[in-house]
Amino acid sequence: MLKNLRGFPDFCNLEGNRINFIFQTLSKIGEEFGFNFILTPVLEPQELFVRSLGESTDVVSKEMFSFQIDGSEKQTVCLRPEMTASVVKYCINNNDFRNKIMYFGQNFRKERPQKGRYRQFNQFGFEIIGIPSPFREIEIFSIIDKFFKTIGLAFNLKINSIGSIEERQNYIKILREYFEENFTNLSEESRTRLKKGAILRILDSKSEEDKEIISRAPKITEYLNSSSQEVFKTICNFLKKNNIHFTVEPTLVRGLDYYNDIVFEINCDSYEAAQDALGGGGAYDNLFEQFEAPKTNAFGMAFGVERIMLNSWSLKESKKKAYVAVVEPYFEVLSSIYQSKFFAVSDYFVSITKALEAANKNNINYLIIIGEETARGNIIIKNLEERTQKEISLKSFLAL
Ligand code: HAM
Repeated sequence: MLKNLRGFPDFCNLEGNRINFIFQTLSKIGEEFGFNFILTPVLEPQELFVRSLGESTDVVSKEMFSFQIDGSEKQTVCLRPEMTASVVKYCINNNDFRNKIMYFGQNFRKERPQKGRYRQFNQFGFEIIGIPSPFREIEIFSIIDKFFKTIGLAFNLKINSIGSIEERQNYIKILREYFEENFTNLSEESRTRLKKGAILRILDSKSEEDKEIISRAPKITEYLNSSSQEVFKTICNFLKKNNIHFTVEPTLVRGLDYYNDIVFEINCDSYEAAQDALGGGGAYDNLFEQFEAPKTNAFGMAFGVERIMLNSWSLKESKKKAYVAVVEPYFEVLSSIYQSKFFAVSDYFVSITKALEAANKNNINYLIIIGEETARGNIIIKNLEERTQKEISLKSFLAL
């Protein structure tokens, strides 16, 4: 049989269902916060990402799936590596400069596949367009907090401010001088980045040789003006007040060029893979102008859906799960069980043994049997954890 391409996985059963649960939970939270859902194209003009993410970023310089479309409209296109740029394109083309937009979809990056790092992966993202600080940051951090509380996963929030364009240019100059002084001790990759002028990217280096040099490097927070510092303080105070645990990470710069001021990443302790960011985002207040549109405030983030799925969460499920074994065809009974307080997964069986196997395989504790006793208006409930079984009337079951 043909195998999947490397980095292009299938997810089904427990994994697929968890991804669906993440999607549903985030859509519901997004709706509660007043976000509108957007669908954007998977195939985009390559220029969209070159101009927004930046030519020297890893994503644009090494990881794009690009190709030429032939015919009269000869154009270089690519599979989208992220969706923020597409949302900005939508807003500009539709004169929509104040909106709260959420999305879910596949993205493509030609990375070296490993656990939690794929060439096709899904993001669920939120973008707040046209709303100033600190409201937009407060909304996004509240969404993150609510989501992780709902799925029962403790997370760490790493946050930093990378300042305005001017502040960053000034800081880059200072940082360049510092790295030039330490040139001979830097890793090969960081030296190349230094030569190419991708100075901030050096702070992202995972190389052992660079770690000590980076830890002694000047910190951007020392070069921020008072208004940038004020915004940063307000956000930190909000997080503290709301018991959202965070750490200030002065070397966090993110891998895409469009950010300014507040940037952040989320990870969690229970995730051992090297690729540990479960999500990230920040402000991109200059991106609209870069596309010749009016200056527009913008802030957002995206969750890496597969990486969240791979974690061990302790779900606070609102509904108990039940496996319904239909041994006799009482379909009206089945349909009323679907409407009950139980989240029911059903299948059709000729034997109870097979039904028990299926319930165990799916980690479901309750087995409901629609069998010959249903002729008397009863069903059987087995609690597989407690190893108990009772026959109760359908009426009393629905009233549970
Ligand atoms: P990003 O940090 O490049 O940001 O990606 C966001 C999340 O997508 C990551 O934290 C990670 O969980 C997931 N992710 C990225 N690459 C992979 C991969 N190869 N395999 C699996 N998961 C991956 C962005 O894309 C920005 N557009 C986020 C944003 C929205 N900023 C502002 N608004």
